[in-house]
Amino acid sequence: MSKILITGGAGFIGSNFVRMMLLGSDHEIINLDALTYAGNLENLSDVDQHERYTFVRGDIADPMAMDKVFADHRPEIVVHFAAESHVDRSVLDATAFVRTNVQGTQVLLDKSRIYKAQRFVHVSTDEVYGSLGAWGYFTEDTPIQPNSPYSSSKAGSDLLVRAAVHTHHMDCVITRCSNNYGPFQFPEKLIPLMIANALEGKKLPVYGDGKNVRDWIHVVDHCEGIRKAMELGKAGEVYNFGGDAERENLFVVKEILRLLGKGEDLIHYVKDRPGHDRRYAMDSSKARALLGWTPRHTFESGLRQTVDWYVTNKPWWERVRSGAYQAYYQQQYGAR
Ligand code: NAD
Ligand code: TYD
Repeated sequence: MSKILITGGAGFIGSNFVRMMLLGSDHEIINLDALTYAGNLENLSDVDQHERYTFVRGDIADPMAMDKVFADHRPEIVVHFAAESHVDRSVLDATAFVRTNVQGTQVLLDKSRIYKAQRFVHVSTDEVYGSLGAWGYFTEDTPIQPNSPYSSSKAGSDLLVRAAVHTHHMDCVITRCSNNYGPFQFPEKLIPLMIANALEGKKLPVYGDGKNVRDWIHVVDHCEGIRKAMELGKAGEVYNFGGDAERENLFVVKEILRLLGKGEDLIHYVKDRPGHDRRYAMDSSKARALLGWTPRHTFESGLRQTVDWYVTNKPWWERVRSGAYQAYYQQQYGAR
C-alpha cells in the first residue's frame, strides 16, 4: 500500500482515476484540487466516504500551500492530472494555462523532490506533438511541435519533468494520451457538448469543415494506462496511449445524433478554431509491449455507453452548465 497524491482528482479523468484506485487497489488516496470551473466534487460522491480517501483543496501553483500539503501527507507517489485543459479557453486567454500547467508542475516537482516522493507520473497529451497530415502516427520519438497555447503549456510542463529526471535524478514518467471521452467530462469538450446540446434541442457547433480527426479513447482505458505506467514505467520514459479509433468530428457528431434519435438539422457549421490541428493519431505499441496495456472499449460501445450516461445524468450536466459556464459559452459561440 502506498500513499498517492492525485492532483486534479475532481476533474474528468482524475475523478475516474481516483475511483479506480479506491475500488481497485489498496492505496491511500489524497485528492488535491483547486476546484476551478472544471473541478466538481460531485464526480466522486459515490466514493468520497471511503476510509482510504482524503480531499484537500489547494492550488498547485501556490508553493506555500503545496509545501504544507507535502509536509502533512508525505506522499510516496504523485500522479499529476491538474491542468487547464480546454484548447478554446487557451485561445481566449492563456494566462491560467501558463500558471497552472507550467508553474504548477514545477512547484509539484520541487515539493516532490524536497519531500522525497519516490515516483512522479505526469499526465500529458498527444497534442504536444502538433498536427498530422493524412498519414502516419505519433510515436514517443515524434518531435514536440505544439500549436495551441494549451498544448504549448503542456509541452512546457513535459520538458520540466524531463529536466527533473536529468538534473535531479527524479523518478518521473510521462504519459501522453489522445482525446478521452466517457462519464463526468465537462460539457465544453466535443462529445459531451454535442450530447447536451442535442438533448436540449440546441444547435451543434461544428468547427470548419468538420473533417478534423481525433483518436478517441475511453477514459477508463486511459486510467488503466496511467496505472500501468505508475506501476511499471521506467524513469525518464514517455508512454503514448491511444484508442485506435480515428474519427472525423462530423462522423462523431452524426453518430451522437443517431444514438439520440435526433435530426442532422441541428448541425451548425461555425467559424474554425484558430490554429485548429487537423489530425491526431497515436501509436501505442510501446505501452502495449512494455506495460502490457491494451484498450478494452471499442469506440462504438464506449460512445453508446457515454450517451446513455449523459441521458441518465442530466441533472449533473445541467448543474455544471449553469453559472460561470454560461458566460464562457456566450463568448465562445455567441447567442445561439
Ligand atoms: P479537467 O479540466 O476535467 O480537470 C482538471 C482538474 O484540475 C479540475 O478538477 C480542476 O479543478 C483542477 N485544477 C485546475 N487548475 C488547478 C490548480 N491550479 N491547482 C489544483 N487543481 C487545479 O481535465 P481532464 O480532461 O480531466 O484532464 C486531466 C489531465 O489529463 C490534464 O493534465 C490534461 O492535460 C490531460 N489530458 C486530457 C485529455 C482529454 O482528452 N481530456 C487527453 C490527454 C491528456
Ligand atoms: P475538443 O473536445 O475541444 O478537444 P481537442 O481540441 O483538445 O482535441 O475538440 C475535439 C474536436 O472537436 C476538435 O477538432 C475541435 C472540434 N470541436 C468542434 O467542432 N466544435 C466544438 O464546439 C468543440 C468544443 C470542438
